[in-house]
Amino acid sequence: MANTMRYLATLALVLLCARPAALTQGLRTVNPDVERRIDSLLALMTLEEKIGQLNQTLVDWDDKSKRHAVTEAWRTDLRKGLVGSVLNCVGTRESREVQRIAVEESRLGIPLIFGLDVIHGFRTVFPIPLAAAAAWDTAAVRRASRIAAVEATASGVHWTFAPMVDIARDPRWGRIAEGFGEDPFLCSAMSAAAVRGFQGDRLRDPSSLVACAKHFVAYGAAEAGRDYNTVDISERTLREVYLPSFKSAVDAGAGTLMSAFNDLNGVPASANPYTLTAILRGEWGFRGFVVSDWTAVTELLAHGIAADTGEAGTQALRAGVDMEMVGGIYSAKLPALVRNGKFPVAVVDESVRRVLRVKEALGLLDDPYRNCDSVRERGEILLPESRAFARTLAAETMVLLRNEGKLLPLDKNLRTLGVIGPLADSRHAPLGPWAGMGRPEDVVTVLAGIRAAVSPGTRVLHAPGCDSTFADSAGFAAAVSVAAQSDCVLLVLGERNDMSGEAASRSDIGLPGVQRALIGRVLTAGKPVVLVLMNGRPLTLAWESEHVPAILEAWFPGVEAGHAIADVLFGDVNPSGKLPVTFPRSMGQIPIHYDARNTGRPFDAASHYTSKYLDAPNTPLYPFGFGLSYTEFAFSNLSLNRSAIRRGDSIAVSVDVRNSGDRAGTEIVQLYLRDVAASVTRPVKQLKGFQRITLKPGETRRIRFLLHPSAMEFPDARWQPVIEPGAFRVFVGTSSADLLESGFNVE
Ligand code: NOJ
Repeated sequence: MANTMRYLATLALVLLCARPAALTQGLRTVNPDVERRIDSLLALMTLEEKIGQLNQTLVDWDDKSKRHAVTEAWRTDLRKGLVGSVLNCVGTRESREVQRIAVEESRLGIPLIFGLDVIHGFRTVFPIPLAAAAAWDTAAVRRASRIAAVEATASGVHWTFAPMVDIARDPRWGRIAEGFGEDPFLCSAMSAAAVRGFQGDRLRDPSSLVACAKHFVAYGAAEAGRDYNTVDISERTLREVYLPSFKSAVDAGAGTLMSAFNDLNGVPASANPYTLTAILRGEWGFRGFVVSDWTAVTELLAHGIAADTGEAGTQALRAGVDMEMVGGIYSAKLPALVRNGKFPVAVVDESVRRVLRVKEALGLLDDPYRNCDSVRERGEILLPESRAFARTLAAETMVLLRNEGKLLPLDKNLRTLGVIGPLADSRHAPLGPWAGMGRPEDVVTVLAGIRAAVSPGTRVLHAPGCDSTFADSAGFAAAVSVAAQSDCVLLVLGERNDMSGEAASRSDIGLPGVQRALIGRVLTAGKPVVLVLMNGRPLTLAWESEHVPAILEAWFPGVEAGHAIADVLFGDVNPSGKLPVTFPRSMGQIPIHYDARNTGRPFDAASHYTSKYLDAPNTPLYPFGFGLSYTEFAFSNLSLNRSAIRRGDSIAVSVDVRNSGDRAGTEIVQLYLRDVAASVTRPVKQLKGFQRITLKPGETRRIRFLLHPSAMEFPDARWQPVIEPGAFRVFVGTSSADLLESGFNVE
């Protein structure tokens, strides 16, 4: 009997496969042939097999051999078709074996989809996403994502849990490192670029990795910046700030989304029909599937909206969480609930269709072993050209925060250079959080990068100053002695890589531990000091900015950290990164972001009763969009092609940008817009365009932006986009706080 069934199933798959490949592309439009294929498969499935498609399990692990292993219990589940996806199964050997069981030993032979967190690179680790956003370079983000996709797919992976497109405006939140910063426009641009890079031109291409925009939604708005905490925001904030980057991912074709851990205005995001179904599917037409975050379905109990696991499972699935990541509630509870008439099988069927649609789009139904090619695995990982690009991108992401007296760039012929700090020779810190399959031994440390860059005659001295717990000042004396012997000192400080990322919120975002004290001691040697920071979030640097003449924000730069930092410090690369997130002066200013509303009493120094602090300015230490260069750029002649437009028209904005310094450099020209009087209060400015341009010394270029009507829109009371007549101000310049201004009217 079993053999007959398997034969019939196989026959069905074979017949279903006999159709032109061109009919299987993409998820964005309905393809009747694909839908028919999926429905025929669905018709063959038992209830358990259907729910199996909605079940993602963790790859089995053998504690003895410290390897992936297939235990008998797991093999039985795979054979019974009770697993639809496997998490963390990496390597062609392992993935081929696990896939073989699903395909060759189960009744219907439906392939598994293997998912992994490929966040900022697979083995070639690139800068963290927050850093990548600082390059304001969508092409580079797309390319880094493509390289990550090639490597991951060569190692058996089909699906990455990236990009994380959560807006983050609270630097205490550790996961700010994983996203693209505070701004919806910049984050949306990066979100689309990352999706396109991961997914390539066709999902069927074996080097394409299906993307997962996460964490839907508003996870970054966790109260007090504490990870997993409650989120309570207005619908306007949800729509204007937190949703656009997800919409952008969906429009770019993202095949999947991940539902978030947090509750949103009282409804957990992983059981929220309004966001998961009404908005995502109803308003945006998303046709892929949603996976829960890790045990997020089980956590509905702790949230207090489900009394038992059965309720948790039905609430999540009904709301639109198609696949459950670990937890196993769907498999354990849903079959009986469906059979007892307590849950409609139609809802299960719809989710199964979505999962199968993604598998079909990837080509897995035709070639389950599409990513099990050991030749590709050996030949496509950590290639020299991938490393070279990691170096270029890392250098592009660095933000020069301070450069008093043009201390930087440094001379490669210095007699003695002191390299001090607990992170200077660290192979772990540069990888940052969520470093995929990145290995410390692949990392070029800052010290190694500096040594490789300086002239043969330069002596490079090193002292860590303190260890990586940042707790012990016993190394201070040796550090001061190195400083005393040096012509210039590089202090390499910041955060360990485990100080940001998941469950890594900090209540104090100053330099951790004794590091500030170490700076103080090193400064007593009286030498020029450059502070190089590696960290995953904005830090409070008011003291450092007062006392240290040069500060380079290097973020967590990835495997090529040392080379890229040396490229910038010695001027082989002129820094061009701009902050994708505001750096506050102090913790008390948080939350602080550039696109605030004006209030009825905007700060006025002449009037006491205006919006301000008694003990600190309103302005940040380093504003959004800020970053210095070794050259200077002058902006002039801002003009618009018209002074008034009709609703729905575009307007052209032009500005002259001149490289007024003495070396070539790249500027990120930023355009902001303000709707002066509208039916609801509008932010004082919102980013609506940016361009990276490279100018030779003395060169002037006229830069043109075409502002489309969508730039002037905002959601009305029924959340429909509206453009209201009246005055708009246009700002163009080098940062959100240094802008030329003009204006136009919408009639
Ligand atoms: C939990 C994290 O929140 C999510 O971002 C990640 O993708 C999953 N774990 C899987 O590792």
